[in-house]
Amino acid sequence: MTLKEEIERRRTFAIISHPDAGKTTLTEKLLLFGGAIHVAGAVKSNKIKRGATSDFMEIERQRGISVATSVMGFEYGDVKINILDTPGHEDFAEDTYRTLTAVDSVIIVIDGAKGVETQTRKLMEVCRMRSTPVMVFINKLDRPCKDPFDLLDEVEKELRIGVRPLTFPISSGPTFKGVYNIYESNLSLFLTGERQTADAETVDIALDDPRLNDYIAPFAAHLKDDLELVDGVYEPFEREEYLAGRLAPLFFGSAINNFGVRELLDTFIKIAPSPRPSTTEQRTVGPDEEKMTGFIFKIHANMDPNHRDRLAFLKICSGIFERNKAYMHVPSGKLMKFSSPNAFMAEKKSIVDEAYPGDIVGLHDAGNFRIGDSFSEGEKLRFTGIPSFSPELFRYIENGDPLKFKQLAKGLDQLMDEGVAQLFVSSLNGRKIVGTVGALQFEVIQYRLEHEYGAICKWEPIQIYKACWLQSDNRAQLDDFLRRKHTNMAVDKHGRLIYLADTSYALQLAVEKFPDIRFLFTSEF
Ligand code: G4P
Repeated sequence: MTLKEEIERRRTFAIISHPDAGKTTLTEKLLLFGGAIHVAGAVKSNKIKRGATSDFMEIERQRGISVATSVMGFEYGDVKINILDTPGHEDFAEDTYRTLTAVDSVIIVIDGAKGVETQTRKLMEVCRMRSTPVMVFINKLDRPCKDPFDLLDEVEKELRIGVRPLTFPISSGPTFKGVYNIYESNLSLFLTGERQTADAETVDIALDDPRLNDYIAPFAAHLKDDLELVDGVYEPFEREEYLAGRLAPLFFGSAINNFGVRELLDTFIKIAPSPRPSTTEQRTVGPDEEKMTGFIFKIHANMDPNHRDRLAFLKICSGIFERNKAYMHVPSGKLMKFSSPNAFMAEKKSIVDEAYPGDIVGLHDAGNFRIGDSFSEGEKLRFTGIPSFSPELFRYIENGDPLKFKQLAKGLDQLMDEGVAQLFVSSLNGRKIVGTVGALQFEVIQYRLEHEYGAICKWEPIQIYKACWLQSDNRAQLDDFLRRKHTNMAVDKHGRLIYLADTSYALQLAVEKFPDIRFLFTSEF
């Protein structure tokens, strides 16, 4: 197969949802369809259950699962599918954001009874920033759900994206009959007796067929009215709009019952984009360029503390990645060969000889790589759009054992490279401040420093409302700001200036008083 053909047959995407909406269940059903797994229950949820924040075994278990299921590749017909898993716990949202930089499209799962929830809204913001095409799967139709039109409105308003239902549900909960496939003009019947086993029975039937009543009485008339309304209200589906990230095709179903999933998957492989061009600071890189390029979007420490090596996840952006070929690690300028790069098929890892754009390769790393690092065949490229988000929680970190100073510094450095949290150094007193997106991260850091690096850390409170990166073309104004806010300034690991606003009022005042300074809440690595 040519490089172009390999690219065209690849679909690299992530499934995102608010916890409990059904992401793990849907992932598993997709793998079952692909023949990648054969029994239900093979994909473990990587959720940390609420209330388990101090259960370190739970954290380790979660890390173990998340490395095992980080990438799930499988073949479906002629298509090579790569599903990139995202952490289930909101405290790991930043990891999810970064994973989204490595996908070409996204499937959003929404619980039909709950509608759009907070986490979904936040993740959609990231998709919007990158114009990522999204498809929506409204799940749990076997339970009493909100009215489908209310759900469509909610998705449109809350996620700020146009919607187009491609299937439409017939009732929900105990009276759920199935979904009507609008474009194929057929009916998938939800037969409760066949739950959890096979595909649903599908009947090709036009809406004006009198037999419709036999199948879905007493909802036939209702369905016709609903579909007329759908046609009246929603524009016909246009793939270009979907690819531009402006229109989300929408499906209804029940993941646990394997219902509506095949429709989703079959449409997905038809319309979802194959690997797209990637932007770098220097130029746009087309996937079909001959030379290999890629970037690291995730680093995972070895679960076994006796083996310090880490697994770095490289997304191939162009060309063919080959085992034992020398590539340039762009930040260091060093040439490196990888004798045992990993490919990820379903829940297994294996050594791979070749990988193509859209694929993810696991590289063993002795601690030299950072998130955002690029690899090439010599060209100095820096991929953009791998964001670092303004953390929401802050604490001073102090050394708890004077004899272990070096271990602490090294451990902290490596954990930051993995993207577990962000480290700032205060300009006021030179103290180190750790910023995270969730409280759980502080416990993870403390636990891992102790168990993997033999270092003891202590946390001390600090009052910070938000950290923002500063940019300005007005040097005088920036200098004035730095003078006045000296005590609130810090630098990040790249030496960039960070303003640590202690209250929302202080931030608001600063924004008003210094109009030529841009206060940024996301930065790129
Ligand atoms: P997540 O990864 O998005 O967090 O969700 P997950 O798939 O783990 O699903 C959350 C819960 O919702 C699970 O129940 C799962 O069985 C259930 N679920 C998923 N899809 C459907 C569906 O179509 N209909 C119904 N009724 N339930 C569904 P749980 O009780 O938390 O876990 P489990 O004990 O069943 O594994």
